[in-house]
Amino acid sequence: MNKFIFQTMDFRILPSLLLLLCCQMLFSECSGKIIDEIKTTDPVVVDKYAYPLKIVAPYQVGTVMSLSTFSNAPAMTIVKKEFGSVTCENAMKIQATQPTATTFDFYQADSITNYCVRNGIRVHGHTLVWHQNLPVWLTAFQGDSAAWENILKTRIKAMLTHYKGRVKSWDVVNEAINDDGSLRAFATANNTKVSLWAQKLGKDYVARCFQYAHEADPEALLFYNDYGQEYSPAKINAILAMVKDFQKRGIAIHGLGLQFHTNLQRPDADLKNAISQMASTGLLIHISELDISMNGSQTYIQPTATMLDLQKSKMNTIASFYKTIPAPQQFGITFWGISDANSWIKNDWPLLFDVTYAKKPAYYGFWDGLKQ
Ligand code: XIL
Repeated sequence: MNKFIFQTMDFRILPSLLLLLCCQMLFSECSGKIIDEIKTTDPVVVDKYAYPLKIVAPYQVGTVMSLSTFSNAPAMTIVKKEFGSVTCENAMKIQATQPTATTFDFYQADSITNYCVRNGIRVHGHTLVWHQNLPVWLTAFQGDSAAWENILKTRIKAMLTHYKGRVKSWDVVNEAINDDGSLRAFATANNTKVSLWAQKLGKDYVARCFQYAHEADPEALLFYNDYGQEYSPAKINAILAMVKDFQKRGIAIHGLGLQFHTNLQRPDADLKNAISQMASTGLLIHISELDISMNGSQTYIQPTATMLDLQKSKMNTIASFYKTIPAPQQFGITFWGISDANSWIKNDWPLLFDVTYAKKPAYYGFWDGLKQ
């Protein structure tokens, strides 16, 4: 008799149990939070890493897209599954968007933006003003400073107006400061990169870019984006001084991008220091172009286990240390590429997925860093 009741009860509660389990899993997906109560020891959860980055992350985790990403099936699978934020790798830059001084071509950037908006992915705008990627019509432009100012203003206004409501944050100016803290303008002994913008528009042009952007879309979050904060105290100081100056003058600036194109040799302390110093401004902090180079000297034809392990540990440090900055300042971490197969750095394996689009140790290190 007892045996009979037990069997009957077991049969009856089975559908309810299954329903409960499904609801729980569905809820965790929808709410964007992994359910902490599910332990890896539970028989239902075989692989904790099956939960994608965007579900595990307490902040946005992003990647870059190009038009070519759409025809790359494994890359698209990763974008859809793992990332909640996208930056256009090149499609919003001046070369891709402005065939002439007065005409705009939004085809590439619109394709990416509209896909993201349809799929609930945040789009971060990159970039309005940069000393690289200039079209020939611009480098050959012979106008006076007023004509240059007009080009700058027209570009910023057109981009912000076209993307209003779809793109809510922008890298307004990219890489305007040299490693020694001076404004990038003319070539120096240590720096062959010049900025035509600074040469033609004078040293306060960065401030005016932010003003034009704010006028065009007062709702947009405006970022200053640069590299090298992890190795150049002079650059850190120059950025901090610029932020203070903008705030004193009432010029809108909401965030700082730290590109973090870094490498295995960079001490963790330098990465942490860069994040903390930038966060001391109280602005939004975006690790905006993360990749960890392993083969800068091109010595290896494939990564060694030691290299992969070190990369894993650095990804872990960055993901977990980022959580120490106040939550309202956590704009997110964006990787500069989807897999090692399409990184802008060749034969170097700087990302979370390998050339076959499989998860690398770096993926697991980053994932653990999000959860720890
Ligand atoms: C790079 C792209 O990844 C390349 O495809 C392109 O040829 C050059 O630009 N800092 C930036 C990014 O802010 O826009 C750059 O992207 C990488 C360095």
